Amino acid sequence: MADLEFRGISKSFGGIVALDDVSFSCVRGEVHALLGENGAGKSTLLKVLSGAHRADAGEIRIDGQPVSIHSPRDAMELGIGTVYQELSLIPELTVSENIFLGRIPTNLVGMHRRAQLRAMTQELLDRYGVDDVRPDTKAKELSLSRRQIVEILRVLATDPSVIVLDEATSALTENRVAWLLGLARRLADEGRIVIFISHRMSEIRDACDRVTILRNGSTVDTRPLADLDMDEIVSMMIGRQMSSYFPEKRSTATDEVVLRVRDLRYQHTLNGVEFDLHRGEVLGIGGLAGQGQAELLRALYGVIPAHGSIELDGDQIHNRDAREALRRGMALVPEERATQGLLLDFSIPFNTSLASLGSLKRGLLVDLGRERELTQSYISQLAIRTTGDTQPASALSGGNQQKVVLAKMLATRPEILMLHDITRGVDVGTKKEMFSLVREIAGEGNAVLYLSTDVEELVNVCDRVLVMHDGKVAADLGGADLTADRIIGASIGAHVEQ
Ligand SMILES: Nc1ncnc2c1ncn2[C@@H]1O[C@H](COP(=O)(O)OP(=O)(O)O)[C@@H](O)[C@H]1O
Ligand SMILES: [Mg+2]
Repeated sequence: MADLEFRGISKSFGGIVALDDVSFSCVRGEVHALLGENGAGKSTLLKVLSGAHRADAGEIRIDGQPVSIHSPRDAMELGIGTVYQELSLIPELTVSENIFLGRIPTNLVGMHRRAQLRAMTQELLDRYGVDDVRPDTKAKELSLSRRQIVEILRVLATDPSVIVLDEATSALTENRVAWLLGLARRLADEGRIVIFISHRMSEIRDACDRVTILRNGSTVDTRPLADLDMDEIVSMMIGRQMSSYFPEKRSTATDEVVLRVRDLRYQHTLNGVEFDLHRGEVLGIGGLAGQGQAELLRALYGVIPAHGSIELDGDQIHNRDAREALRRGMALVPEERATQGLLLDFSIPFNTSLASLGSLKRGLLVDLGRERELTQSYISQLAIRTTGDTQPASALSGGNQQKVVLAKMLATRPEILMLHDITRGVDVGTKKEMFSLVREIAGEGNAVLYLSTDVEELVNVCDRVLVMHDGKVAADLGGADLTADRIIGASIGAHVEQ
């Protein structure tokens, strides 16, 4: 008898079949991975489990007994706790208030209540080893990574016996990812069920016992992870053999310098960055989190006011804002897609053509035919799963939103394309498409700055990698020096030197 069982779950939205007869089961004490491409139905299935969606058909059983989950409260009472893919904290409320929202003991009032909440929150923070979040901080003042931690604690505060983590690591910094993977193991060892979704295979391999694979809303199989290798998993996810994950590396880098950066400085985060970017080159940017990588891209894009010398094709430039950067052919795909890159309420064509309106305009009118054409070409290239042109971006799955942001920037035909961790939260099939696109863009005589937190990607996609430390370039690795060990070594070595 399974401890948690999904039986024949189906769910459609209008005409879209999100889930089609999904069946599999989980047992207590395991970390169970749920894998599938963006749009495969993972989040929808877990929303059925958490009472956020009603299934059209099928049932869920706990310990062999059918249960009825009609609301999030029903799910909570059954011991099901879900960390959703979308962040949901209320910005104006404090960490404590967010964690205990809707569950604040009613016998507590005023000052006493606040003190009590603070104490309960502190206890939770201590129990799970979180020492850099304060109970009284407002959610809006927290970094993305810390907000995600609070989302997780909010679920743990209900002491659930089934814990769902829907792409919970994608917003976390590296050491926090390790923390969460350790926590997942610990929760399972306590006899709970952890359902874990991530697009990073290394996390799946490190943290999970068994895996269920979904494809187009249907279950493909449930298997112990130890029985599978990466290629098998990927083939099951995409439904065909995938030749090789990374594109064949054929460097198109030339000697011609397109961007020359000297002594770039910004507050305490950029402390004299220097490098040359060549035509046809994919230049990686790596290092431990928070060493100025993000600020470097933002400074070049003109959204933070840095000092220093930037030469584009031999001319000194100074971008004062993104509009100016785009006009000069410099585009950035930012990190936080929902807040920085997309207008979620607007249609996908509108979003894709947003940045390129200048080049699409005929007179003062936007050329709608041209807009649709351009969007369509990128949508098919990036395999963005949509039901139609008029679908708002918010109805897309998370990874698909990321693809829309990329499509939007590609449509500007940039000479210098800056990419901030574009494959985060994106499925393997699409990652592969993105890698090829990046190489293709460079091959057309443009240049790419490729910031990634994934060392494997840096090694396999880039011609050369700058490892940043303390706001400077600590190592410049190319040719035979471009290995995972050298990148990690330079990140850490530089750290020890201090
Ligand atoms: N609220 C919704 N309205 C319309 N379509 C939706 C909604 N939520 C999900 N979908 C669609 O259902 C499919 C599965 O999405 P989702 O469960 O988010 O996928 P995953 O989490 O595996 O990436 C997608 O085609 C998506 O566009
Ligand atoms: Mg999802």
